[in-house]
Amino acid sequence: MDWPAGEAAFVTGAASGIGLGNARALVVAGAKVAPADVDEGRLAEAAKELTDAGGTVTAVRLDVSDEKNRPTAADRVEEALGPISLLCNVAGVNGGGPIEETPLKIWRWVLGVNVDGQFIGASTFLPRFRSRGTRAHILNTASVSGLVPTANVGACTASKFAGVGFTMVLREELRDSDVGVSLLVPGTVATRLDLTAGEAEAKCSDGSRTVRSPRPTTRYSPRAPIPTESANRSSKPSETVGSSSSPTVSGGPWSAVRTPRPRMPTRRSTDATARIRPLGCRPGARTR
Ligand SMILES: NC(=O)c1ccc[n+]([C@@H]2O[C@H](COP(=O)([O-])OP(=O)(O)OC[C@H]3O[C@@H](n4cnc5c(N)ncnc54)[C@H](O)[C@@H]3O)[C@@H](O)[C@H]2O)c1
Repeated sequence: MDWPAGEAAFVTGAASGIGLGNARALVVAGAKVAPADVDEGRLAEAAKELTDAGGTVTAVRLDVSDEKNRPTAADRVEEALGPISLLCNVAGVNGGGPIEETPLKIWRWVLGVNVDGQFIGASTFLPRFRSRGTRAHILNTASVSGLVPTANVGACTASKFAGVGFTMVLREELRDSDVGVSLLVPGTVATRLDLTAGEAEAKCSDGSRTVRSPRPTTRYSPRAPIPTESANRSSKPSETVGSSSSPTVSGGPWSAVRTPRPRMPTRRSTDATARIRPLGCRPGARTR
């Protein structure tokens, strides 16, 4: 059986977009899946879709930035699916704009979800992986904006740079263990990401500043969109892309997890990313 067939995977942000794409790919690969998301309505729809596709699924409502609920969520899904051996930290948000226009509240929200969320995920599952001593894997989701400074998305860019550093440290610390670490680096993918940002900023607004409507995902890509191997881009604008038309995740990241080898999912790199080595995954699997 090809790993992760038969394994149980915990996928955050799985109610939409890239997280849902990952969950779908895992079901196809024969893994049991625990989709986790803060959006209860979309999570229920996603769980139904995955179950209807033949998956063994236990969904859990979860705010990844809340450390108190994570152990309970982990216990619940492990009771239902068996030990989790694959953690996919996909949940993430975008928000704010130019640094001087970004409210502290939005800054903290973005860093809380994108940085704390991945740390809390790893801190919850790593001791479980270690105590079992069997093969396990952590897949963190960064962004091209975690490699190339991207103007006007400062909070997200700072969080994704932090996520890249965090993942590199994790990889070093787990080098001699059975726990592999990979980094997913999406380019531009048409998802709900900017709608979520717009909604959060609207909630955050006290009327003292103009809240911009949801912005297009092209904010991520000042130049032409970069095709990714991790998620096939939809040609639909983000406003019309919901959970049912989430990107499908192709073999890219899963072959990186399986073989295991380092992976930089973005196929056509920008000048800057081309100079950056792909991040390594499994212990001992140094990048060349
Ligand atoms: N879409 C892009 O162009 C793009 C580019 C680079 C990186 N990314 C990254 O990919 C990841 C997935 O984003 P997406 O594009 O699929 O967006 P999306 O909005 O479609 O999906 C993100 C999911 O995360 C969930 N989420 C948000 N806050 C959460 C929280 N506190 N706890 C639990 N779940 C939470 C949302 O409800 C949503 O279902 C993110 O980390 C994002 O930064 C996306």
